[in-house]
Amino acid sequence: MANEQPLTIALSKGRIFEQTMPLLEAAGIRALDDPERSRKLILDTDDPSVKLVIIRASDVPTYVQYGAADLGVAGKDVLLEHGGEGLYEPLDLRIARCRLMVAGKPEAPFAGRPGRRRLRIATKYVKCAERHFAAKGQQVEIIKLYGSMELAPLVGLADLIVDLVESGNTLKANGLVPLEHICDISSRLIVNKASWKMKHARVTALLGALRGAVEGQAAA
Ligand code: PRP
Repeated sequence: MANEQPLTIALSKGRIFEQTMPLLEAAGIRALDDPERSRKLILDTDDPSVKLVIIRASDVPTYVQYGAADLGVAGKDVLLEHGGEGLYEPLDLRIARCRLMVAGKPEAPFAGRPGRRRLRIATKYVKCAERHFAAKGQQVEIIKLYGSMELAPLVGLADLIVDLVESGNTLKANGLVPLEHICDISSRLIVNKASWKMKHARVTALLGALRGAVEGQAAA
């Protein structure tokens, strides 16, 4: 349709883009640029009414919450930290799967010791870590980091970390072990609440096509 409002989908570069594109392609949407080769932040697709916006993973829920993108793909880890305000989360895309875990040195003081200071936990996932230790009734000190959490216990910055574990290779390479499973993580399709109403037919058509693509991948 000539004057149809564009539908924008927010994606982050790397794993999420690479694993989302086959699903979008199965739903009939092909990107005309590769974000690894182009510096463009708004990518056209072969459907003139669908645009992709390329942003940092942790910014995807914010763009969708404020309606700057109608839809997005975000890791459950990012959504748990964001809180999910202004968003629907209608579909688990079952991509970028990993686990959120507590990890540390094999001899890490896991439960803390009487009379000792509170355990220090280094993480990018402050809310998830707070919730996890609060649910266990354990008082901890959370230290916010932005990456390379595995270094923190090695240099005495923290006793434990809360981080994503996929293969476990990063932990192993740094002499750390997984200690506690917090939750399973995968990427989710998220939808702005106003777009869900205002662009309902197009959003639900895309949702249906993506659901079919996810089920097709699972059956393959
Ligand atoms: C993630 C995560 C771990 C690593 C886990 O880091 O934070 O460091 O991957 O993967 P593995 O279990 O397969 O080794 P990422 O490379 O995304 O970078 P980050 O440290 O900036 O989050």
